[in-house]
Amino acid sequence: MKPRVLEYLRCLDCRAPLRLEARTIEQVVRDAVEKLSPCSGLCPFPDLASQERDCAACAGLEVMTGDLTCLACGRQYGISDGIPRFVASNFSPCSSPTTRTARSFGFLWDRSKPARETPPRPYHFEKMAAALSLPVFRGVVLDAGCGEGIDLANLAREEHAEVVGVELSEGGCRTSFRRIARLAGAHVVQADLCRLPFADMTFDAVYSYGVLHHIATPALAAGEAARISRHGACVAVYLYEDFGERSAVWRWLLRSVNSARVVTTKLPPRALFAVCWAASPLVYVLCAVPFTVLKRFRPLRSFAWSLPFRHARGPFRLAGDLYDRFSAPIEYRYSRGGAADLLR
Ligand SMILES: C[S@@+](CC[C@H](N)C(=O)[O-])C[C@H]1O[C@@H](n2cnc3c(N)ncnc32)[C@H](O)[C@@H]1O
Ligand SMILES: [Zn+2]
Ligand SMILES: [Zn+2]
Repeated sequence: MKPRVLEYLRCLDCRAPLRLEARTIEQVVRDAVEKLSPCSGLCPFPDLASQERDCAACAGLEVMTGDLTCLACGRQYGISDGIPRFVASNFSPCSSPTTRTARSFGFLWDRSKPARETPPRPYHFEKMAAALSLPVFRGVVLDAGCGEGIDLANLAREEHAEVVGVELSEGGCRTSFRRIARLAGAHVVQADLCRLPFADMTFDAVYSYGVLHHIATPALAAGEAARISRHGACVAVYLYEDFGERSAVWRWLLRSVNSARVVTTKLPPRALFAVCWAASPLVYVLCAVPFTVLKRFRPLRSFAWSLPFRHARGPFRLAGDLYDRFSAPIEYRYSRGGAADLLR
């Protein structure tokens, strides 16, 4: 946890600021420290008085373990493995949909090992930005459900943005943490989007790619996104479509394919991933290959662009996408009007 994120974190119960008691601190060489505006002084360590308000020094620190204590009600939140935790550890013993969601996505994100040397590549945010003609995101930005942290890291490299990623799953937090370790303007927080540890009107922009439709109470999460956004902030959300604007054939296909979820959502993550890996070449041949061919012909272009999984970059590259579609315990789908209602 970079001490600077204390600027934004608040108690879940009373929304008061939190005091940091750090137990283990590491020193990290970070990029783009100079772009950050000075913090308001919430970050100083009681035992490192000399570093008070020295934001350049503070930006090179990683608090690996410690506690966050509410200045008003005294409630405590843990920091472990460098991540501030605002969800119960191990979640509930019973298999609630939230627990299962965290487990299934956590397995997927734990598989990816971000290499420091890999150059950033456009990811989901760029697709959303192009489709919605989004303005340039500046200021403090929330990545709501940041997954493995690719968009989070990309956006935090931009000159004018500081990005906080919120993620439910342990695996997602872990991989995001590794990916953003060197980026001064990126943070990851383990929390539930239905209960965010931030004050009202904290964020200048919010984006969420493919998350709200996996939450049992999407309206609650949408309400939280509205609460923590400043007036006039852009809130961009990608939701699964319900195929209501497509032909009956597409709707039938969606229903048929989705019926497999009755079984797949109950498979152990490892087994399901193996199935998805094996099925990936078939889906590649049925979707990505036709897309590459058909998009060249004007009359077939709109059909080509309606194909799912069209962006696959190789026969086995769809395993993760398929796993995402077939593992998540909850999946809602939205019409254009339904999506607008959710965010109103
Ligand atoms: C389909 S993934 C998308 C991840 C990322 N936004 C991306 O574009 O790659 C959905 C993510 O939302 C997270 N998630 C689901 N429910 C959540 C909740 N209630 N609070 C926070 N994150 C949640 C999952 O753990 C998962 O990482
Ligand atoms: Zn500071
Ligand atoms: Zn409190």
